[in-house]
Amino acid sequence: MDWGMKNRMSRIFRAKDNRTVMLAVDHGYFLGPVSRLEEPRKTIEPLITYVDSLMITRGVLRNCIEAKYDIPIVLRVSGGNSIIGKDLSDEEITVSMQDAIRLNVSAVAFSIYLATEYEHQTLINLARLIDEGQNYGIPVLAVTAVGKELEKRDCRFLSLSCRIAAELGANMVKTYYCEDFDKVVKSCPVPIVIAGGPKLRNELDALEMAYAAIACGAKGVDMGRNIWQSRWPQAMICAIRSIVHDNNSVKKAFNLFNSLKK
Ligand code: 5RP
Repeated sequence: MDWGMKNRMSRIFRAKDNRTVMLAVDHGYFLGPVSRLEEPRKTIEPLITYVDSLMITRGVLRNCIEAKYDIPIVLRVSGGNSIIGKDLSDEEITVSMQDAIRLNVSAVAFSIYLATEYEHQTLINLARLIDEGQNYGIPVLAVTAVGKELEKRDCRFLSLSCRIAAELGANMVKTYYCEDFDKVVKSCPVPIVIAGGPKLRNELDALEMAYAAIACGAKGVDMGRNIWQSRWPQAMICAIRSIVHDNNSVKKAFNLFNSLKK
């Protein structure tokens, strides 16, 4: 790996433990003003100091985040779909590598949709993006999307998606936690971070999921709704952080959450 690529990866994954707490706030690219992210600045700013990197679109980055923050950016560069459109999987590359570089990003993120009509299109576009990323030293995070079919989130499907993304050259993969998650991690030769998915019943469930993922070898989280849709997003991000970086047990992390939410 070239120095520039290595340097960008090490901005995302902290040197101390090679793990990351990435905050996902890119949802608007297909969901619009999703609940509690209606005014991105208000949601994101209070959390910035607690996260290692931000996964975000260029529109929200340019308009809602001050350039003074020293926060590694993982730029969402796929889209072209919407929650009310015909097919969620019909995504293309939406941002040029030049613009990503202009924004001084640490990585770009692109979704792939296996077992959909647009599987081939998303995989080929991922490969193109990786080629461009290699040209300029920009790492690529592949997101193993499932669209509306949440039941696809099983070990077989996710192992296949993660492995294909890695084989195509993705530098890291964002996927969902599932039963037998250790198998997904073991068969993927690049770092995996987990998405949170739709808001779970309560914060304890989300902490349990983050803990289990890290225990299985995930290199961190790239969570959104389970953090900023919590009534106590700062307490939640700190509790998640304590699992990722301090190896806290679920019990300790939940105690921390409860003490901070007061
Ligand atoms: C969809 C995405 C989302 O835009 C987002 O990043 C997911 O985060 P979370 O599920 O934790 O809210 O990647 O594929």
